[in-house]
Formats: sequence, structure tokens, C-alpha cells
Amino acid sequence: MRGRVPLAVAAAVALMLVFLPGADGAPAHPPQAVQTVPKSVVRAADEALPTVTVVATGGTMAGLSDTPTSFQRYRAGTLLMEDMLAEVPNLDEVANVNSLQFGNKGSGGYTIAELYDLSLAVDNALKTSDGVVVTTGTDTMEEIGYFLDLTVQSPKPVVITGAMRPWTVIGSDAQANLFNAIVTAASGKTAWFGTVLMLNDEIHAVRDVTKTSSYRMDTFQTPELGILGYVDDLKVRIMRMPARALRVFETRGSVVTTANALRNWRTPFDLTTIDKAELPRVEIFYNAQEAGGEAIDAWAAAGVEGIVTAGTGAGGISGAASQARNRAVQAGVMFASTTRTGSGSVYGGSGAVFPADSLNAQHARLLLMMALAFNDGVEEVRADFIEWASLQADITSALPSLRTS
Ligand code: SIN
Repeated sequence: MRGRVPLAVAAAVALMLVFLPGADGAPAHPPQAVQTVPKSVVRAADEALPTVTVVATGGTMAGLSDTPTSFQRYRAGTLLMEDMLAEVPNLDEVANVNSLQFGNKGSGGYTIAELYDLSLAVDNALKTSDGVVVTTGTDTMEEIGYFLDLTVQSPKPVVITGAMRPWTVIGSDAQANLFNAIVTAASGKTAWFGTVLMLNDEIHAVRDVTKTSSYRMDTFQTPELGILGYVDDLKVRIMRMPARALRVFETRGSVVTTANALRNWRTPFDLTTIDKAELPRVEIFYNAQEAGGEAIDAWAAAGVEGIVTAGTGAGGISGAASQARNRAVQAGVMFASTTRTGSGSVYGGSGAVFPADSLNAQHARLLLMMALAFNDGVEEVRADFIEWASLQADITSALPSLRTS
């Protein structure tokens, strides 16, 4: 601690001023108003250490609890990152840590236009930092993280983290997650990985990870593929690379240069080339037994440009939904098919119906949004969508040939 009033004390005072729990005893973590002017704090640097900027957006990590044991009764997005960092010991052994208070509210309260600004803020921070940690609420962390994964142009480490318990309760995971995310970013070991998610000591590719439990601290899981690595004390152990990073080695006979690597690695979704107002609306239709198609008709009529279907099994949707999809396609809406099963791929599809491969519906929605924003016409949107939905690596050309002839 650096001689400040502990946040638990500040919390108690602030709670008396701002927090009256609901009379029904319901979990109280209402959304907060965004702080419109980002506040940046840059410290004097130790040149021997890497520089990490923490871009803070709020969530449970910045949550102020009712009491030290009210794990589920708290006000998310309340504490300021600068005050939180002052309570994390030993950071000066890990990195020069700067902070940018981008906002302070629950993850679900951010608009797509704000995520556009967040992505530009991350790329801007990476111009002067060796890595960035983004703190958000966990509810839509996989979406915020994948938005960054698709749009941040720098291959430097971006690590997204948060907490399942607010900062001010006993046994909170907030302090450890913040520390371990900074350790991960400072290690440089996830450079070229795209955005990774670090919670509960585990490192996941954000493209593949999903929140699986409303309250448990091991809520983030990567179905089928598993974690990339883990953090134990100051040891960051990377046990495998995501396809995004493996693509750097797809040089097709040429050597790995920074230029070659960037060409293979970068997405075409450079936000500096479009206005945030150009990001189209994309919605998700969740299929079920004898599901109706009215929602699809209504979205098409409302000007929604893309719809992701979370289908049963390998992506099937009901007869009524399928007929509504045909009508919407005639009206110019493009579709992506995913499965509601929680894992596995969807293949096939034709015309304006694209297979989302192993992306879940919430990830596919963001990719469809990007493909629509950066392209004109079904064929172009389809090509971009399928390339990034089916992201995989074939690095055989970078390895010694074992052919017998
Ligand atoms: C939120 O997503 O902002 C609230 C829940 C959380 O941070 O875990």
C-alpha cells in the first residue's frame, strides 16, 4: 500500500452515500454512467522493466460491496483503477504500470460505438507501452475481448481481465486477477496471440473462450480446445499457440519477417478507416422447438443488416424461422449459422447464409458486424466472414519436409 485510505474504508463511506440495496434483496450491481473524459495516469519509468497500460472500464473488479462478505451485493464499476493499482503490492517488480480510466460501468452497458473508441484507445496505448491490460465486467468480456481481437492493429500483448467478486469483499479474485493480467502482459509471451483473456490464473484465446457460470470463479472455459497457459506467481507458462499466432509462420517458403508476419496476422478490420456510425446492427436469433420466425421478420423490417442464428445441433433452425430467413435474405439481410450446443462447428450454408465454424453466436455476431462494415455485397462479406470464422493454421511449409520422395 502506498499510504492511501484503503479502498475498503472508502467503500464503506461511499456506500453510505450512494448505495441503498433493493428492498427485494435482489443482487445489486446496477450499471453506472460512463466517465466521459478518460483519465490517464503515467508514472516515471524504470527502463529495465516493460511498460504496461491498464485500460479500465469498470465491472465487478471495480465493484464496491455492501459489506466485506456481500459477494453478490455490490455496485459494479465504482472504484477507480488508479486507486485499485495503489492497493496491489509488488507491481514495481513486474512493470511500469500506467492507467487509463476509459469508463466505469458494467460490461453490458457499453455500446458498440464505445467499443470502437476502446479499440482505438488500446492501439494508442500500445504505441508507448509493451502491453495493455483491459479490465471489464465478465458478463460480456468475451464480446469486448473479441471485438478488440478483431480490430486492434498492434500485435503487442493485449490481456483482458476482470473478477467474479468485487474488490472490497474477503477472498476477492479482483486483486489477483489484476496482478496476474499485468504479469502476463509484461511477460510479452502473448505477443501475436491477439487478445487473450486471463482470469483465475488461466490464459485463454478470447476467440474461443466463453463465460459458463453466473457466479463461479472458474467461469471462463474454452470448450474443446482448452487453455493456452497459466500464471503461477511470476511464471507465465504458455503451453500452446492459438491459430492466430501460428499464422505468422505461414510464410509459404519465405522467411518470417515482421512485414510478412503482420500481413498474415492483421485482420482487415482497421477501425481508423471507417466511422463508428458505419458499424451495422446485427442480432442473434436463438432457435428452439417450433420457434417462430416473427423476430427475424421484425429485425429485417427494422433495418438490421445481419442475423446470427444459434441453431440446434449442427445449426438447424425451425421451419418458421427458416422461412423468415428466406424472406430476410430476399430483403438483403445476411446470416451466420452457429450452434447453441456450446461447442463444435457449423459448416455448409450458401449465398447469404454463412457457416460460423466454431465461433459461438456472440462471437459470430461481432465478426458478421465487421464483415458487413468493411465490405460491399454478399460475396465479399462471405469471403471475409469465412476467412476469420474458420481461422486455423497450416504451418507445414514452415517445417522441415518429411516426404520420402
Ligand atoms: C459486469 O459484467 O459488468 C458485471 C459482472 C462482472 O463483472 O462479473
